[in-house]
Amino acid sequence: MKTHSFAFRHIGPRDHEAEEMLKTIGVDSLDELIAQTVPDNIRMKEPLNLAPALTEQEFLVHIQEQARKNQVFRTYIGLGYHNTILPGVIQRNILENPGWYTAYTPYQAEIAQGRLEALLNYQTMVSELTGMELANASLLDEATAAAEAMSMMFAARSREKVKANANKFFVSKDCLPQNIDLLKTRCEPMGIELVIGTHREFSFSEEFFGALLQYPDVVGTIHDYRAFVQRAHEAGALVAVAADIMSLVMLTPPGEWGADVVVGTTQRFGIPLGYGGPHAAFFATRDEYKRLIPGRIIGQTIDRDGNPALRMALQTREQHIKRDRATSNICTAQVLLAVMAGMYAVYHGPDGLKRIATTIHRSAVTLNDGLTKLGYEQLNETFFDTLEVELGDVDQINLQKIAEEHKINFRYMYSTRIGISLNEHTSVEHVNDILTVLAMAKEMEAPVYDDFIQADQLPADFVRTSSFLEHDVFNTYHSETEMMRYLKKLERKDLSLNHSMIPLGSCTMKLNAATEMLPLSWPSFGNIHPFVPVKQAEGYQYILNELERDLAEITGFDATSLQPNSGAQGEYAGLMVIRAYHQSRGEGHRDVAIIPSSAHGTNPASAVMAGMKVVVVKCDERGNIDVEDLKAKADKHADNLACLMITYPSTHGVFEASVTEVTGIIHERGGQVYMDGANMNAQVGLTSPGLIGADVCHLNLHKTFAIPHGGGGPGMGPICVRKHLAPFLPGNELVRTGGSQGISSISAAPWGSSLVLLISYAYIKMLGSKGLTNSTKYAILNANYIKHRLEGHYAVLYTGETGRCAHEMILDCRPFKREAGVEVVDIAKRLMDYGYHAPTVSFPVAGTLMVEPTESEGKVELDRFCDALISIRKEVDEIVSEQVDPENNVLKNAPHTLQMTVGDEWTLPYSRQKASFPLDYIMENKFWPSVRRVDDAYGDRNLMCTCAPVEEYA
Ligand SMILES: Cc1ncc(COP(=O)(O)O)c(C=O)c1O
Repeated sequence: MKTHSFAFRHIGPRDHEAEEMLKTIGVDSLDELIAQTVPDNIRMKEPLNLAPALTEQEFLVHIQEQARKNQVFRTYIGLGYHNTILPGVIQRNILENPGWYTAYTPYQAEIAQGRLEALLNYQTMVSELTGMELANASLLDEATAAAEAMSMMFAARSREKVKANANKFFVSKDCLPQNIDLLKTRCEPMGIELVIGTHREFSFSEEFFGALLQYPDVVGTIHDYRAFVQRAHEAGALVAVAADIMSLVMLTPPGEWGADVVVGTTQRFGIPLGYGGPHAAFFATRDEYKRLIPGRIIGQTIDRDGNPALRMALQTREQHIKRDRATSNICTAQVLLAVMAGMYAVYHGPDGLKRIATTIHRSAVTLNDGLTKLGYEQLNETFFDTLEVELGDVDQINLQKIAEEHKINFRYMYSTRIGISLNEHTSVEHVNDILTVLAMAKEMEAPVYDDFIQADQLPADFVRTSSFLEHDVFNTYHSETEMMRYLKKLERKDLSLNHSMIPLGSCTMKLNAATEMLPLSWPSFGNIHPFVPVKQAEGYQYILNELERDLAEITGFDATSLQPNSGAQGEYAGLMVIRAYHQSRGEGHRDVAIIPSSAHGTNPASAVMAGMKVVVVKCDERGNIDVEDLKAKADKHADNLACLMITYPSTHGVFEASVTEVTGIIHERGGQVYMDGANMNAQVGLTSPGLIGADVCHLNLHKTFAIPHGGGGPGMGPICVRKHLAPFLPGNELVRTGGSQGISSISAAPWGSSLVLLISYAYIKMLGSKGLTNSTKYAILNANYIKHRLEGHYAVLYTGETGRCAHEMILDCRPFKREAGVEVVDIAKRLMDYGYHAPTVSFPVAGTLMVEPTESEGKVELDRFCDALISIRKEVDEIVSEQVDPENNVLKNAPHTLQMTVGDEWTLPYSRQKASFPLDYIMENKFWPSVRRVDDAYGDRNLMCTCAPVEEYA
């Protein structure tokens, strides 16, 4: 390898290390190992047909060329997306900081208190601005959040409503078009009937269980919905409101006029447009629905010493993944973006937010004044930031031409109307420029303003009177120095990839290279609205087309949809495509999804959401699908078989040689094969979903293709399909995309979170065919090396026929419970004292750890991690041999904090060194968990999900 090749930087083991590792494992070459691991019948015969790898420098030149092809106009399209100002301190210290963006979902609370606090800030901000009791953190986009609201309300129906089969959901026609479109996708498979209409005239019958409104509405009008809400409640229906969070700074929040759920996006709080995302959506509701809320909720609790601590609340209810009883499949969400939006509120505080919102409103007031002077009719009697302009005699096509010459985008509605949504960026000069364009279209002189008109024009009844964000955290960090230090303080509490490897099985925590991330900060990618004319996004379009092609090549398929914003959304999209395919052949009755017992919980959850019935197939003692059981079930359901969902290699970390037999069984009975691509890191360049006989798969770009996990998102879950499924790929209500008979949308934006697609694009272009294939090979080498080193200390649960694992392995910790009373969580927490994040705990087998090193870790780090696990194994033995107290030992007391280790009082029956510095390497790079073991049950009994003074709950 050459030092200037990106593969040399991305792949961890140096050549001499790889040699040693291969020798340790007992093979002569990497290829011999791969031959022993990946069944021959599914091996690729030819290398991937991809462009030659670019060096990092070459890639930066190339991506700059694409960036230059994007035209950044001043865009006033609105529709839930607005230009923003991302404070530099947040950009540099969060978005561009691996300490924040390489973290994982905060399942291990003791080493995640920083982002947990950041998310609690976010929840507090959302719940106070919406006027609701509780908010989650967070969802994928506003449209999916609206769909989640519909599903939650459906699940929350009263007994009478269920009896009366109340399955109708009213949607105001004044909701955003992408919200309505996504509800269309979601409602039908769930047996919900959408009724789209005018809220003023609507009267509820008992068949209705809920409704969705938009506040302000699609054209910017602020409606008084109070009478509507009253009518809904009288009829026993709940009301969800999709609200613009910036407007809620000035307007009476929906929680104060009776809404039951409030959803929306926090994109306006400093997050770049990114040609559609990523942005965090919010979901706020009443306390009584806390057990039904989709997604994650952060709550306060205490640690073992009674000190305040945070953690993800209500985990036991598994609210987001309830397998075949699920109402939602949300897993990866948009944590990094929620952190950023919450920090925007922290940095600006309530006064700053009022200033920003007021300035936006006054820019609209000023524009409204100018429009009147020009003789335009402005149709919104009430507005916050959006005006609807009747063009009269003015020719819309001519106006658009003039506007585009001035690099301005309006929203073009019917042929005689435009919409103009103003934003945080809008200055008085910008308003003058808009007026100039509108004046030119009338061949008039434009009025010129020196400043915004200093008056508000909000409806008196709807001016916000309640205070918000009074907590200290929103009123302290307003200088950049203070803010920078607050962010650093939180970052220091969290273990990320910039400290040590994060060996989470099924999560593929690989390098997120700096060069892959750099373009995300460029305005020519960040400041593009998702609904601009496609010709303005030529650079993006080039990249998206290339990425679609490359992913299809890698998966052995024919077409790609980049729309789904997470793996679980990809599953849902793929299943909906399968459904549409069956329907198109007059086989719409096919509704059975066969799913192995080892599947991730999102698989059955997605199947249920797609209107399918889940049939579980067993796994044998080697972790493989039980082919006999599969055959029996496939036969039993042959007439109604829709699909099989499999993960490959399996979630047990094994390449099942029988996979082609399995896919054959399904095809012979008229079913389709869906492959969950979470483990694609073991396939790229060696085999493919196409070769194993699948018809559709999703790819977790935040695993295999280097998008950072961001503490629980962003992520992307594009789907790739065979030719026969391509016509059904999802479309978008406002931009042409998808197949010729495409299903309605899966995400709000046509290409999902386009901005982070740049990362996967960079990854593929810089590795090329050889680098990608080598990455897979090294991922398998690293896993087998760990397996070899740990054998004799831990039993590895499943392996292939030759005794090899794929890219991950399951360590069986169940015997330790029997022998020493040691639970798998004790080991997970003890690893923190050794400076490591735990592997995946109890998935897919309870009482086990699933380890996945990825190709990015070198031998030194792999050895350190193995040393830590071996040392922990010895600590277990000390209990087994009764050398130490079974209840009072380093494992049961883990993790050990700095405070307890240096405290004057030390009463534990082992040394401080053994507690906190059990191996030498820790001396020079210690990571201190910031709290002792958190008490989950206490937090769930005393649910507290906003920033109230901590003393009250300790
Ligand atoms: C096997 C498997 N399938 C699906 C998913 C869901 O993906 P996402 O979290 O992107 O929704 C995961 C997530 O970890 C997974 O491990």
